[in-house]
Amino acid sequence: MDYLKIKGGTKLSGSIQISGAKNSALPVIAATILSDKPVKLINLPNVVDIRTLLKLLDILGGTVEHNDTVANIDNGTMNSTKAVYEIVSQMRASILVLGPLLARFGECEVSLPGGCAIGQRPIDLHLTALEAMGAKIEIKGGYVRAEAPNGLQGAKIVFDKITVGGTENIVMAAALAHGTTTIINAAKEPEIVQLCEMIVDAGVNIKGIGTSEIIIEGTRGKPLTFKDVEIIPDRIEAGTYLCAAAITASTITLEKVNATHIDASIDKLEAMGCTFDIEDEKITIHGNSRLKPVSLITTEYPGFPTDMQAQFMAVATMAIGESVIEERLFENRFMHVSELNRLGADIWLKGSIAAVNPVVELNGADVMATDLRASSALVLAGLVANGTTNVHRIYHLDRGYDNLEGKLASLGADISRLSE
Ligand code: UD1
Repeated sequence: MDYLKIKGGTKLSGSIQISGAKNSALPVIAATILSDKPVKLINLPNVVDIRTLLKLLDILGGTVEHNDTVANIDNGTMNSTKAVYEIVSQMRASILVLGPLLARFGECEVSLPGGCAIGQRPIDLHLTALEAMGAKIEIKGGYVRAEAPNGLQGAKIVFDKITVGGTENIVMAAALAHGTTTIINAAKEPEIVQLCEMIVDAGVNIKGIGTSEIIIEGTRGKPLTFKDVEIIPDRIEAGTYLCAAAITASTITLEKVNATHIDASIDKLEAMGCTFDIEDEKITIHGNSRLKPVSLITTEYPGFPTDMQAQFMAVATMAIGESVIEERLFENRFMHVSELNRLGADIWLKGSIAAVNPVVELNGADVMATDLRASSALVLAGLVANGTTNVHRIYHLDRGYDNLEGKLASLGADISRLSE
C-alpha cells in the first residue's frame, strides 16, 4: 500500500493547473447513459473514482475509451441494467446511475451504497422522488430494484433536505420522462449547473438552472444526443491548494480555476488574513504568517462546503486564536480531528462543533487517512509540521485528487509517494 512522506517546513511558490471536477465528472458520466450515441468528455480528472464509474459503464455493456483526461463513451451498446455491488461498494456515487438507467431502460438494479466514514448517507430522498415519478421500487438482496415499464412520469418533487446526488438523479430521470418535472428545494452546486447545461445542449428544455427550483420537460423516452462536454474546474481541489498556501504562509497561483465557485473559501481565507489577486481563470493567493482564527459553518452551496471543512481545520491550527468549526451536513465528518491532534494540534469536539485552539507548532508523526478530504487535511498539516509526517492509507486521496503529491512537489513541497 502506498503512503505519502512529507518533510514539513518548506515554503511553496509557483503555479499549478487545477484539474476537472471529480464531482462534476461523475454525474456527467452517469448522464451519458441517457444517450445511445457516442459522446466525448474532456478535462476529466485523472483519479480513481472516474475510472471506477467508467468501469461500471463498461460492465453495463457500454463502450468506453479512456486516457487520463478524455473519455469517448458509446452507450448504444449497453445491454445490462445491473450496477453490481463490486463497483458500488467502492464508490457511493455509483448510485448516480439509478436515475438514468431507469429512465432509459424502464428497469434497473443498483446495489445499495451503504454508509461510509463520514456518516450514514441514506438514499431515501432519491427513492421517494423516483416513486413520485411512477417508479416501483423494492429493496431486495442489498439491491434497489426499480421498474417503470411505461416510462417515468413528470412530477412535482419537493426535497425535504437539499441533496446534491438526489437532485442529479432526478434531473437525469426527468430528462427522459413523460411530461414536466419540477424539483423544489433543489441543490444549486456548480456541478448541478454543468449537468443541466449538458442536458440542455442535448435539446431538453430546463428552466431555473442554478436555482432551488428546476423545471425539466422530458423527452418522453427519446434518448439524448450529447455535444462534447468539458468538465468544469474542481473547486475543492482549488480550495485545498489555497489552504496549502495559507498554512505555509506562501504565495502560489492556481490556473484554470473558477473563482466564483470558491467564493466561500476565499472569503474565509481573506478573513484569516490572506490576500488574493484574481483575474480570468487565475487566482494568486498571498499567505500570511499571522493567520487570524476563523469561524465557519458548513452548508449547501453557495455556503461554505463540507468538502473543505477538514482542510480549513488544518489551517486553523496555525491561527493565533481559537477557531470554531461547525459541521452541519454529515454527522461523522470529524475523523481527521484525532489524527491532527496526533500531530500536536489542540482540537476539542462537542457534537457537531470543533474548537481549534492555536498551537505554536505541529510535529511530524505517522497518521492515517480516513476519507478523501480528511486525508488532504493531514497532508496540509504535514507541510508545516516539524520533521517527517507519513500519511498512510492514501487510497482515499487517490479517489479524488489528481496527482496531489506531484502538484505539491512542483510548488516546492518535500513530498514523495512510497510503498509500505
Ligand atoms: C455530494 C458530494 C460530496 C459532498 C456532498 C455535500 C458528489 C459525488 N459528492 O455528496 O462530496 O460532501 O454532496 O455537499 O458530488 N441525505 C439524506 N437522504 C438522501 C440523500 C442525502 O438524508 O436520500 C442527506 C445526507 O446524508 C447528507 C445531506 O443529505 O447529510 C447531503 O447529502 P447529499 O447532498 O446527497 O450528498 P452526496 O450527493 O452524497
